Amino acid sequence: MRHPTFLDCNPGDDPPYLRPTCTERTASTLTPPPVIEIRDLHKSYGALEVLKGVDMIAPRGHVVSLIGSSGSGKSTLLRCANLLEDSQQGDVLFEGEPIRWRGTGADRHPADRAQVTRIRTNLSMVFQQFNLWSHMTILQNVMEAPVTVLKRNPVEVEAKAREYLDKVGIGDKCDAWPAMLSGGQQQRAAIARALCMEPRALLFDEPTSALDPELEQEVVKVIKALADEGRTMLLVTHDMKLAADVSDHVVFLHLGKIEEQGPPEALFGAPSSTRLQKFLRAGQAA
Ligand SMILES: Nc1ncnc2c1ncn2[C@@H]1O[C@H](COP(=O)(O)OP(=O)(O)O)[C@@H](O)[C@H]1O
Ligand SMILES: [Mg+2]
Repeated sequence: MRHPTFLDCNPGDDPPYLRPTCTERTASTLTPPPVIEIRDLHKSYGALEVLKGVDMIAPRGHVVSLIGSSGSGKSTLLRCANLLEDSQQGDVLFEGEPIRWRGTGADRHPADRAQVTRIRTNLSMVFQQFNLWSHMTILQNVMEAPVTVLKRNPVEVEAKAREYLDKVGIGDKCDAWPAMLSGGQQQRAAIARALCMEPRALLFDEPTSALDPELEQEVVKVIKALADEGRTMLLVTHDMKLAADVSDHVVFLHLGKIEEQGPPEALFGAPSSTRLQKFLRAGQAA
């Protein structure tokens, strides 16, 4: 049996992460509802204020890329969106549902751990360093969270896991250990692992920056295919070509604030902020 690939299309299938079809898009200029919404978010590590009032929306089916210099707060913003970090002020909403907080300022924490767990399991994160479990095979890595966290049926999860590994092009690596795989293959396994949670959104933190250019392209191809499939994605990347190719919206973060944002054609084609112009010029020179 041939396993499905990204190119396969099942018109009857409309999972919640799918971006609106072309017909829906032309029929309506309305932006789909947000999966993730951040309002006026402030985040400090001790005395260091890293996010200084950030507003951001990741609408259903859209790809939003975060770009900016190292240290500008991109990873912190992603971690706050995924509730891996507390924040001191502002709101984080998942599909319109605000996180409930208790306390204020440095003493502010989520009030409801069950809410955090539920939301976090709907947002899968892919990290720069893959973060696969070295003591588990690739298949076990992909199956682990759906079985242990979501308590799904292991037989059904295994079938899904094999399908997702096929999808990212490493269906033949199920029984391999992470250390036996190239960086590009490990990152694709990490993407399959994220997909196997069947999340409402995928969050990527510099998914290609630990890879050699050749291996980077394997992962870029998968990310582009996921974008074409209509997944809701929040993508932190240093790869401006990737951001320009896949994004519906690009956010340029500078020193913890949004300096400029808009559609990729505008941001990359005609940046208005001098800081963004400088950032893009530096990238070209690199
Ligand atoms: N756990 C932490 N403790 C203290 N400072 C941190 C921590 N994580 C990040 N920072 C600081 O926050 C700032 C933003 O970091 P980060 O969000 O990682 O930036 P980026 O991803 O854009 O490179 C940097 O100055 C960094 O040193
Ligand atoms: Mg970072």
